[in-house]
Amino acid sequence: MFHDSSSAIFLTLALTAAAAAAAAKPIIQIREPNPTIDLNFAVRLNLSGVSLVAHDRARAAAMIFSTNTSDARKLRARAPAIDATNTGVTYVASVGVGAPATTYSLVVDTGSANTWVGSGKAYARTSSSVDLGKNISVTYGSGYFEGKEYNDTVTLSPDLVITQQSIGEAIKSSGFGACDGILGLGPVDLTNKTLEGRETVPTVLNNLFTQNKISKEVVSISFAPTTKQPNMNGVLTIGDTDATKFKGSLVYTPITRTAPANRYWGIDQSIVYGAHRTNVLRATSGIVDTGSTLLLLATDAFDVYRNTTGAVLDKATGLLKISNEDYAKLESLYFSIGGRTFEMTKNAQTFPRALNSYVGGDNNSIYLVAGDLGTDLGSGIDFINGYAFLERFYSVYDTTNQRVGIATTENTYSELN
Ligand SMILES: *[C@@H]1O[C@H](CO)[C@@H](O)[C@H](O)[C@H]1NC(C)=O
Ligand SMILES: *[C@@H]1O[C@H](CO)[C@@H](O)[C@H](O)[C@H]1NC(C)=O
Ligand SMILES: *[C@@H]1O[C@H](CO)[C@@H](O)[C@H](O)[C@H]1NC(C)=O
Ligand SMILES: *[C@@H]1O[C@H](CO)[C@@H](O)[C@H](O)[C@H]1NC(C)=O
Ligand SMILES: *[C@@H]1O[C@H](CO)[C@@H](O)[C@H](O)[C@H]1NC(C)=O
Ligand SMILES: *[C@@H]1O[C@H](CO)[C@@H](O)[C@H](O)[C@H]1NC(C)=O
Ligand SMILES: *[C@@H]1O[C@H](CO)[C@@H](O)[C@H](O)[C@H]1NC(C)=O
Repeated sequence: MFHDSSSAIFLTLALTAAAAAAAAKPIIQIREPNPTIDLNFAVRLNLSGVSLVAHDRARAAAMIFSTNTSDARKLRARAPAIDATNTGVTYVASVGVGAPATTYSLVVDTGSANTWVGSGKAYARTSSSVDLGKNISVTYGSGYFEGKEYNDTVTLSPDLVITQQSIGEAIKSSGFGACDGILGLGPVDLTNKTLEGRETVPTVLNNLFTQNKISKEVVSISFAPTTKQPNMNGVLTIGDTDATKFKGSLVYTPITRTAPANRYWGIDQSIVYGAHRTNVLRATSGIVDTGSTLLLLATDAFDVYRNTTGAVLDKATGLLKISNEDYAKLESLYFSIGGRTFEMTKNAQTFPRALNSYVGGDNNSIYLVAGDLGTDLGSGIDFINGYAFLERFYSVYDTTNQRVGIATTENTYSELN
């Protein structure tokens, strides 16, 4: 089991600053990753302590809690008090704050929008730090932080330096383990009421755009399956998409109109299974989220998947486990997003075998990446396309056009697992 950062698995990813960063220039297509990238963007797996499913479900519950529906109340009553932010898979970026900058390891989170430091390494104020004289507080799953808000210089890479970025300093926090805070890449409305006396706080993306550091308010994420060896196998592109990281064309779909998914990177999708196109998930709303590990499905959709595949819930891991016989028959899931079909292969549905022992599983068993969201269809967040999905498809978070882009990649049909 992992107990600290030294025994955790780190995959080194890289961040490409958009070459087209300069203000008035037309958008320049990025043709290859910038070799001088400075932002150290890594996938950190921390599978100890609590099952992945419980982690993802607590996070989902917190997102659904943002409304006061009966589903939200039911989930709230059932949600375990667990460390919801710091277990499972997190993407950690090295971000500089201040002048001269102190470097912090921040969770890259598309499901929240405040940026803050200080849960691990303390905030080091410099001459660029301006105390805004206001308190800030944000709750995530069962984790939270509260503290003071500053304006400060934030350095993502030498090409991406933001001045007067509103950032939080955690005075009290819980649930962030070895990380120093969060780089919030979610929609700005998620910051509503977090800072006293303010409706919203400009996000890092908002400021990069208003300060003309990027010409489009867009973040794009490319991941590879976790078992693949490190070596430039993932890229976070700020300000544009990177055509070298996906195949064919991007399909864009508007942010869903259904609450509460529409507060996040929410989309509409449906899912069918296998050659007979068995309905698993009717067309409904949910979210794409770097902060979730699994592919989470509303309980009734999850039950259809479980019944259809013959998989059974495994007590030791909390994951679905499938026999060799049923695995031999396992077919693809077909996601319908924005009018296009995306195939999640049998291999993509398989939990990385090399990690079985880290989640309490047997090396010789086969586990699946679909998890039970914990509430039936109709809560407004009926699925979460987490890391298990994102490592097989390219994803684009486009604030300017209020849409999410998805494309296939060289990993979509990869057999590595
Ligand atoms: C949520 O709704 C329930 C029932 O309508 C009500 O009793 C409760 O006070 C509400 N909670 C909040 C935080 O608005
Ligand atoms: C901010 O919070 C602290 C306690 O953490 C409190 O003492 C202080 O009065 C608060 N400031 C404002 C302006 O509300
Ligand atoms: C903080 O930064 C914002 C821009 O993000 C700016 O509008 C505001 O005036 C700054 N506040 C102070 C007190 O410097
Ligand atoms: C991993 O998770 C455990 C349990 O939540 C936590 O105590 C620990 O600090 C985490 N480690 C890292 C490197 O985040
Ligand atoms: C912020 O929340 C309030 C209700 O608490 C709502 O009236 C307002 O429209 C929200 N603003 C934004 C920008 O979401
Ligand atoms: C799954 O199978 C069980 C047992 O056969 C059955 O009770 C249940 O209704 C099925 N659920 C779905 C969603 O097909
Ligand atoms: C299971 O696999 C892990 C990593 O692949 C290895 O470290 C461990 O020794 C294996 N356990 C057994 C019982 O073979």
